[in-house]
Amino acid sequence: MNDTAFEARVAGWRTRFERVLDQALALPDAATARLRDAMRYSALGGGKRLRPLLVYATGSAFGAPPDRLDAPATAVEMIHVYSLIHDDLPAMDDDDLRRGRPTCHRAFDEPTALLAGDALQAHAFEVLSRPATGAADASVPLAMIRVLAEAIGTSGMAGGQAIDLESIGCALDLPAVENMHRRKTGALIRASVLLGAIAAGVCAGARYEALARYGAEIGLAFQIQDDILDVEGSTEQIGKTSGADAVRDKPTYPSRVGLAEAHRLALAAHDRALAALATLGEATATLESLAHYVVRRER
Ligand code: IPE
Ligand code: IPE
Ligand code: MG
Ligand code: MG
Ligand code: MG
Repeated sequence: MNDTAFEARVAGWRTRFERVLDQALALPDAATARLRDAMRYSALGGGKRLRPLLVYATGSAFGAPPDRLDAPATAVEMIHVYSLIHDDLPAMDDDDLRRGRPTCHRAFDEPTALLAGDALQAHAFEVLSRPATGAADASVPLAMIRVLAEAIGTSGMAGGQAIDLESIGCALDLPAVENMHRRKTGALIRASVLLGAIAAGVCAGARYEALARYGAEIGLAFQIQDDILDVEGSTEQIGKTSGADAVRDKPTYPSRVGLAEAHRLALAAHDRALAALATLGEATATLESLAHYVVRRER
């Protein structure tokens, strides 16, 4: 797929998704307006929307109509935003800038940021639990809930974040950093791909396994590139304070193996992702382009 065609597809999905997410976060209860405002501030304030794009791209590649992909796309982004809000708290990375604006706890306050994350996580599962539009199989919502829950618990995101926090100042070896990255970031990206697959009726078997490998490898590549951009990118470009990992003495790919090797290892994960896609023999051109995007992105 050429760059222009890819960018047009992505722009269409992003426009659709901004509307869908805005509606999902309307939350008209006046008594919790401040909490809602904090959720909306963080969720609707920019972001690349990679995880929703993976839901739409995977689902579409396997024949799911977009209205069946809106709920899983919304759920993964809500989880992602919750993870960012908590990741930025003083008790974790203590960051002041996110998506080019003050972090949630800076714009609001720490208790509100904590609750905004909690509520976004709850809403994500509520959205997924509703009967999927047009889905023939009633077991689909349950399968999606399970995939998402597994991705963000101790074996996935929360576990990876725990390792991250315990590793500050530690000389982790590369396999340990890889394990941390696969869990804290890779697991949710893998789940985004799998939710798109499940929405399209691909719930098990060789195609499902290949998509799982694709998702896991671009997920690893994504976090390696995030580490690289923390070193190579400017604050303005990445919308968060650059150089923050080194200041906090975080083990990252660049700190462990240097920038050149980090780039090479991100590309190696990208290549493994493409090898997994190649076994599918379906219309996976957009997924290929998204893999390229993950390692070429500059923000
Ligand atoms: C940042 O994710 C946190 C990581 C898992 C590295 P993104 O780089 O996808 O953040 P947004 O959504 O575009 O702001
Ligand atoms: C983020 O890792 C992982 C999660 C949010 C789960 P980072 O701490 O490197 O993400 P940024 O750089 O703050 O976006
Ligand atoms: Mg962090
Ligand atoms: Mg952080
Ligand atoms: Mg980072």
